Parts: sequence; C-alpha cells; structure tokens
Amino acid sequence: MNNTYGVHGWNQLWGGGDGQDWTQPDLHIEMAKAFERACFDYFLLEDSLFVPDNYGGTADFYLRRALRAPKNDPLPLVPLIAQATTHLGIVPTISTSFYPPFLLARLIATLDLMSKGRVGCNFVTSTAERAAQNFGLDTHIEHDLRYEMADEFVDLVSRLWSSWDADAIVTDREAGVFVDPAKVRAIDFKGRFFSSRGPLNTARPPQGRPVLVQAGGSPQGRQFAAKHMDSVIAAVSTVPEMKAFRADLRQRLVAAGRDPESCKLFFVVVPTLGETNAEAQERFRRRQAQREASPEMTLAQMGSLTDIDFSTFDLDAPLGELTTNGQQGTLKRFLAQGATLREIASNYRYGLEDPVVGTVQHVAGAMAEVMQEVGGDGFMFSGPVTRRHVAEITDGVVPELQRLGVVRTAYEHRHFRDNLLAF
Ligand SMILES: Cc1cc2nc3c(=O)[nH]c(=O)nc-3n(C[C@H](O)[C@H](O)[C@H](O)COP(=O)(O)O)c2cc1C
Repeated sequence: MNNTYGVHGWNQLWGGGDGQDWTQPDLHIEMAKAFERACFDYFLLEDSLFVPDNYGGTADFYLRRALRAPKNDPLPLVPLIAQATTHLGIVPTISTSFYPPFLLARLIATLDLMSKGRVGCNFVTSTAERAAQNFGLDTHIEHDLRYEMADEFVDLVSRLWSSWDADAIVTDREAGVFVDPAKVRAIDFKGRFFSSRGPLNTARPPQGRPVLVQAGGSPQGRQFAAKHMDSVIAAVSTVPEMKAFRADLRQRLVAAGRDPESCKLFFVVVPTLGETNAEAQERFRRRQAQREASPEMTLAQMGSLTDIDFSTFDLDAPLGELTTNGQQGTLKRFLAQGATLREIASNYRYGLEDPVVGTVQHVAGAMAEVMQEVGGDGFMFSGPVTRRHVAEITDGVVPELQRLGVVRTAYEHRHFRDNLLAF
C-alpha cells in the first residue's frame, strides 16, 4: 500500500469522502480483511519520514495535493490489522538508517508475539536528504554505506531475536520458574556501526526471525536481499525486465549459499479492470491521457524518491546523465523510459500495467501467462488506493486466479513464513 497511513482518494472519484477521515484506520482494516479473504501472503505497509520539497524547491506542490504528507506512522496499524485477521502476513516498513536496532528488534518481536507469528519487516535504507535531516544529519549517508549499515543492522536484530531460546519460557509453577535463565543470553554485539549487549527483554518471536522483506533494486539492494531476505519486491514493468531481475536475484542467492526457493520474489502489478475489455481499455486510455496532461505529478513523485528537482529541466529537451544518492534502482529505470522528461513521464510505469487491462478473466489470464513465462513466485498488487480498486482485485481478479489454480484458496499454516514459502 503506497503512502500507507496518508491521505487517499481526496478530491478523486471513488475516493470515498471528503478526506477528513484520513487519520482513522478503518480503510486499512477493511483492506486487510479483503486481502485475507483473497488469501494474500502479506500486506506491505509503505512509509517515509519527511515532507518532500523536491519539486520547485518548496513543499507547496506536495502539501496542496497531500502527496506523501501528511502521513501517520503505520506501526500502530499493525496490531489493529492483526486483531482483524487471522492468517494474513503484516509487513510494516522500517528504516535501517534511523531506527535504533534494539528498539526495532523489541518492537517487531512484540508484534510477532501479539499476532502469533504473522509479522514481517520491510527494511529500507531511507533515501531522502530531508529524512536524514529530520534525524540530525546535515546530509544523508552515502548510498552504498547505507547498505553496509543495513547489513549489520539485520545481523544485529537477528541475533537479538535469537537471544532467547524458543523454549526459554517454561512456566513451571511447582518449581516457581517462569523463564529458564540458562536459555537467555547476552549477545555482546560490537559492529562498525551498531553495538548492543542484549539479551532482548522480551521472548523469542514465534517465527524465530520475523519475515524479512526489501525492495531496493540497485546491485547493493539486491545483494542485501540475497543475503538476508525472505521476500523481495521488484517494481519493473516488462517481461524481459522481470526475467532479468529474477535471474540476477537467484544467481546472487546461490552465490550467498542459499536455496533460491527460500526467497519469494514478487513483481508490482497495477491492473485496470472493466466489465468488457473495451471498457477497461477506455479507463486505461483516460488514465494515460491524464498522465500526459500532468507530467508534473509523475515528476514530483520521482523527485521525492531521488532528491532531484525535475521542475528545473526543459520537458522537451534531451536529458543528460543524472545521478542520485536516493533510490538508484528506481532512477535508472525511470531514465530508461525516453529521451526527454515529457517522454519519460508519459512512458513510465510503476509495475506491470499495459498487459493487464481488461475483464477479470482477461487480467487473470494475462497475469498467469506472464508468471508462466517469468517462472516466478507471483505479484504484489498496487494502484490507486480506493475501495473500488481493492474490491476489483480481491473479489474480481483473485477468484479468477483461484479458478485457474495459480493462487491459494486457503491458508495452510499458522505462521506467515510457512504460508509464504508453501505456495
Ligand atoms: C515496491 C517498492 C516499495 C518501496 N517501499 C518503500 C517504503 O515504504 N519506504 C521507503 O523508504 N522506501 C521504499 N522503497 C525504496 C527501496 O526500499 C529502497 O530503499 C530504494 O529503492 C533505494 O534502494 P536502491 O538504490 O537499491 O534502489 C520501495 C521501493 C520499491 C521498489
């Protein structure tokens, strides 16, 4: 869910109101129930830690349109979603650059205990200069160094989660022993960036290690994924890109000594549905026309991910080389979409979009075909956050995918990771 605990659908058709209720968790809880009805693996809760001011050098563009601000912390949604569901995996986003590892390990362990083993973590390095400044830095930590920190961060929190054995809590009433002290240990971690004595002051999470997810597409991001992650999200838009991403990740997993099946790779998909194929194509055409009429929406969004002010460039002049200390994988793919900014903004797709326009039967068939060709694990649905879009997917496309036998019709296991790896 993009812009998870921010403003959704305000001033838009199917937005569902006047926007005054954006602070309330009802939409997220309803979505979680719909996702569980559709037997999704997990609900990914995006987050960011700054008010963007990358377009035109001020925050005006973003604030007027409620683009990425205001936005609440999504972590308080996790227990609410856990309470409203029984099997769905829940994956909040955590910054490895700014969260203290001990606090994070404790928070996620607590949530995994509360949800009886259904929580994960989307590890991001945070990409914006403004986010770094909110945490007291003048400029952001360099991109590759952030990944070195992330690597150590995950190592440390994993050790904290293991600082209690699974059977440490014995609750032996006769002996008067709640915790067996022999089964709880300090970790005495001293790294380049972080240190922590441990042990954690809560019990081992039910999954041992909650499910780890990441979405960074740069070589460093993929390397980080190959070493630690249970699941990876790739935002690419064509079958050749999907195949190349999958081949690269699997090769890195093998090189890291892991079974490539132990990490589930999901590709972002944004379907457009209609009662007929023609109706869906008309919807897609209108969205594309809107995209072309307002390139600044795409450029402002991309600016907030890359710290580049695209308003300073001529829309129709050839664009030279650009670099970023922000999202490098995203920028590389963005710039490959055309020669000028107008072309790029018009051609840019967040995920698989063009082949998935039509009736539910058409879209489900196209998704199954693409996955057959790519040979991968599946998709992550994205798109406009409206109740209409959610229902079209969970109650339209998914039942059709179930009929095709390419997605689960029931959860088999209690724990998130077991379900994730089972299908
Ligand atoms: C589908 C997707 C979802 C992401 N969600 C978040 C997020 O919630 N918060 C965030 O700060 N970064 C998010 N990112 C950014 C990445 O996790 C990563 O930090 C960024 O792409 C920079 O890494 P890279 O240079 O390796 O591409 C997301 C990226 C993608 C592709």
